[in-house]
Amino acid sequence: MLKNAGIVLLIVVSLVGCRFKKKTPPSTLKVVDPKVWVDEHTQSNADSVSVKHLHLDIKVEMDKKQIAGSALWTISNNHKQKELILDTYGLIIDSVIVDGNSVSYQLDSPIKFLGSALHIPIVENSKFVAIHYKTGLNARALQWLDPQQTHDKKFPFLYTQSEAIYARSWIPCPDGPGMRFTYTARVSVPKGLMALMSAENTDIVNDTGIYHFKMNLPIPAYLMALAVGDLAFSGIDERTGVYAEKGMLEKARYEFENVGRMVGCAEQLYGPYRWGRYDILVLPPGFPLGGMENPRLTFCTPSIIAGDRSLVSLIAHELAHSWSGNLVTNATWNDFWLNEGFTVYFERRIMEQLMGETYSDMLWELGYQDLENTVASLGPTHKDTWLKLNLKGRDPDDGLTDIAYEKGCLLLRLLEKTAGRDRFDKFLVSYFDANAFKTITTETFLNFLDTGLIKNDTVLRKKLNIDEWVYGPGIPSNAPRAGRDLFNKVDAQREKFLSGMPAEKIAFVHWSAHEWLHFLRGMPPGLMPSQMAQLDDAFNFTNSGNSEVADMWFFLAIRTNYYQAYPAMERFLSTIGRRKFLEPLYQEMMLSPNGEEMAKRLYAKYRKNYHPIAQESLNEIVLKLN
Ligand code: BES
Ligand code: ZN
Repeated sequence: MLKNAGIVLLIVVSLVGCRFKKKTPPSTLKVVDPKVWVDEHTQSNADSVSVKHLHLDIKVEMDKKQIAGSALWTISNNHKQKELILDTYGLIIDSVIVDGNSVSYQLDSPIKFLGSALHIPIVENSKFVAIHYKTGLNARALQWLDPQQTHDKKFPFLYTQSEAIYARSWIPCPDGPGMRFTYTARVSVPKGLMALMSAENTDIVNDTGIYHFKMNLPIPAYLMALAVGDLAFSGIDERTGVYAEKGMLEKARYEFENVGRMVGCAEQLYGPYRWGRYDILVLPPGFPLGGMENPRLTFCTPSIIAGDRSLVSLIAHELAHSWSGNLVTNATWNDFWLNEGFTVYFERRIMEQLMGETYSDMLWELGYQDLENTVASLGPTHKDTWLKLNLKGRDPDDGLTDIAYEKGCLLLRLLEKTAGRDRFDKFLVSYFDANAFKTITTETFLNFLDTGLIKNDTVLRKKLNIDEWVYGPGIPSNAPRAGRDLFNKVDAQREKFLSGMPAEKIAFVHWSAHEWLHFLRGMPPGLMPSQMAQLDDAFNFTNSGNSEVADMWFFLAIRTNYYQAYPAMERFLSTIGRRKFLEPLYQEMMLSPNGEEMAKRLYAKYRKNYHPIAQESLNEIVLKLN
């Protein structure tokens, strides 16, 4: 894969007719040539063919749960390749046409996770490659919802989730983050439903059932996104707004009312927002993620609509990806921390600007706790705790953990604290500017850091000890930690309660959701059901409207056998499909024989409400399938 590759390198590689190769992960900064890499998770050769533009013409068949149509690729075969190889996963290929002529293509047998490479013969001046296809039954990107699985329960719904390597299950494409293209689309849906994509929408509401889209900026395949449902729109300001099912729209609009200000804050920090509009689509509750940074249109779970705007940092996160991720993209999934670590750092800077330092420092501290837990559960010397990952031969979905997020953002915080905020901010602005619409490796970033920030400051270099962060396990000893003291009063109240003070005496005035979350997180394993009952009587955690607090509470309920919370927990598990909540709850149930029985019963009952990728992880946890 390439970006930043010099002309000479391009010529050399095209002459030998092979793809860019990089050796094993480097151990020091100096020996690395940051300009070459190989992406283990794509079989496409689109980097050497130059695949520029996609025109998608598809029909979404809600009854059949199938997408059918064509993907027309505009290519430029400058390096005289004999074939174009695209990624596919479970697609049924009907025909392939190159410049108007039907060609005989080859579809390889599937490789686990990667799918089937589609080989299409091309010649030097081939320009247009059209693939006529249908999606298969096992399309990992697609969740088809029956009406009763939606919020309003009236119409069916479809949405896609393409990151990390699922775009190939609904579009034959070069499915690696290192290959960018622009796109247009014509999407036909049942009349009355609305279609949305990660693109400019040329007709927001229409009754023909045919929608046209345009994305003029080059994006990688993992940012391809489509949603179809009974949706409505509510504008927030001239460049932001919310889409949701009608019954959800007003609540969603209230929750996200400050999103216009958020975009303004982000721009003040790291330069202009380059994507035109920034809208949010609230999905039905089965959405497996908190959010997904589809360009121009963040997809998000309704579980962040708490009624009090207490979970909007998730929107700051997805918005921040408009710079880190969508503008400057990780070259391979091994460099995932470049997307997520930068984004969490940026998210917290936005929240600091909007809500003040106390608020953001609490986010930093909760994140630090998440990091400690992730390191503890992976093991402190595990290689998945390096920032630079090695996902070769694995499904990226299995190796992408909180490490990229929380260890990644801590490294950036260390850079900020060590170099000074002013200097670091200037560096980041230049980083986004210099690498806009490029794809970079960890090593490219490290070189950029070396020349742009560290320069020849050997004292600074030594203090940072970056090698240990990037190519070493666990939490390095110079990791900055903020906000710990902010929770002292919460810790003190918890202690008092645990030593016998009645729950109603807990002094909690003006505690935020962060403080409640910290309060519950610190409960010891030996908590008694009677103590849970006392807490519930005083604070009604079982019916908390904050999904993070409710999730933590249900976790404790399983651990302590606090049965009174089970009906509410079952309602939670029956509707909310967010993996971040489902996995720990099912995992905790599986730790006891009674719990295991409950996990199996609940999973059998609600499995169909979960997204295919959530089902894949729960099959492992609950059914112990691999
Ligand atoms: N890009 C990610 C979602 C993702 C990561 C999808 C890896 C597939 C593979 C998104 O920006 C994200 O990080 N979402 C988080 C929320 C965030 C506030 C940490 C999530 O969904 O929990
Ligand atoms: Zn993210």
